[in-house]
Amino acid sequence: MIRAAITGIGGYLPEGILTNKDMEELVDTSEEWIITRTGIQKRHILKDPDKANSDMVVGAIQNLLSRKNIDVEEIDMIIVGTVTADYPFPDTANLVAHKIGAKNAFGYDINAACSGFIYSLVTASKFIETGTYKKILVVGSDQMSSIINYKDRTTCILFGDGAGVVLLEPNEEGPGVQDSILRAEGAGWEYLHMKGGGSKNPASAETIANDWHYVYQEGKTVFKAAVKGMSESIHDLLVRNNLTHEDIDWMVPHQANKRILSSVANYVGIDMDKVLINIEKYGNTTAGTIPLCLWDYESKFKKGDKIILTAFGGGFTWGSILLEWAY
Ligand code: COA
Repeated sequence: MIRAAITGIGGYLPEGILTNKDMEELVDTSEEWIITRTGIQKRHILKDPDKANSDMVVGAIQNLLSRKNIDVEEIDMIIVGTVTADYPFPDTANLVAHKIGAKNAFGYDINAACSGFIYSLVTASKFIETGTYKKILVVGSDQMSSIINYKDRTTCILFGDGAGVVLLEPNEEGPGVQDSILRAEGAGWEYLHMKGGGSKNPASAETIANDWHYVYQEGKTVFKAAVKGMSESIHDLLVRNNLTHEDIDWMVPHQANKRILSSVANYVGIDMDKVLINIEKYGNTTAGTIPLCLWDYESKFKKGDKIILTAFGGGFTWGSILLEWAY
């Protein structure tokens, strides 16, 4: 049986930094409120006006390729989880393939908000498991600063920019993606969305005046739905695989709010020292959080470790993946 195993990781964070002190200058908030309510201390921001999301993706892929001895022409496919593509079309994946010289690759973007990386990883794993492709780059990347209203204190303190990527390859010895549960509930759209710029509300003077080109979120509703969605999908995944929380070595969750993560860990019964957290450094980078967390903590993982990836985001979209580490 062929499984899709992660065999390499890369990451990229732009140089610009927004600290909580900087946030105090922008909106009516305090360093203490942000840390206690979210766990975030700072975020990276792409400030260069000549650069966009695809440049962060290229940075992450170059980081991965520099650590793995592979020729970029061996890449078969690139999937980019993102809600902040450079353009409405073409997809970021197309621009990226061109920029890195991946002449033999095709690809596309997957828009599943904060679940973008897990949706992309599951999609890519099917191309590996069926023997169709041998090397797929799965990216999660968002330039949230391009759609954040820095006058709205309820959202601007949460988000940052960043890109992470994994290389997926076939493995016939067991490790790789073991199982996954992905879910969606479109009725959740009203609590977390960006209203302008699509076919429903194309850009106009009115959409700009209404702040419809920025993220809108009802935080409390999303918070509760995130805890429920991640917790239940992990629980169902464990039951379906005859596992308990004690069998899990690491949980790598989407980083939206530290309090969400402790609630999920508590519900599932996973010790907090198995929950990998880096939200304090980057904030919520939407599709970027999980691959950036894998990148940060790569040295902790051992071959055979059982890892749960879990995410929740706009859509609503959510789900969990059971992974066995391959190296
Ligand atoms: N600084 C200071 N006060 C703030 C604030 C800020 N940045 N943002 C909100 N507040 C205020 C609110 O206005 C409210 O004041 P009021 O009681 O006078 O009305 C008070 O703090 C509590 O607001 P509330 O929204 O209940 O706070 P919360 O504890 O739910 O935290 C979030 C707000 C956004 C941090 C939290 O709801 C959250 O993290 N939600 C999920 C976000 C998320 O995961 N999104 C991505 C998709 S997964």
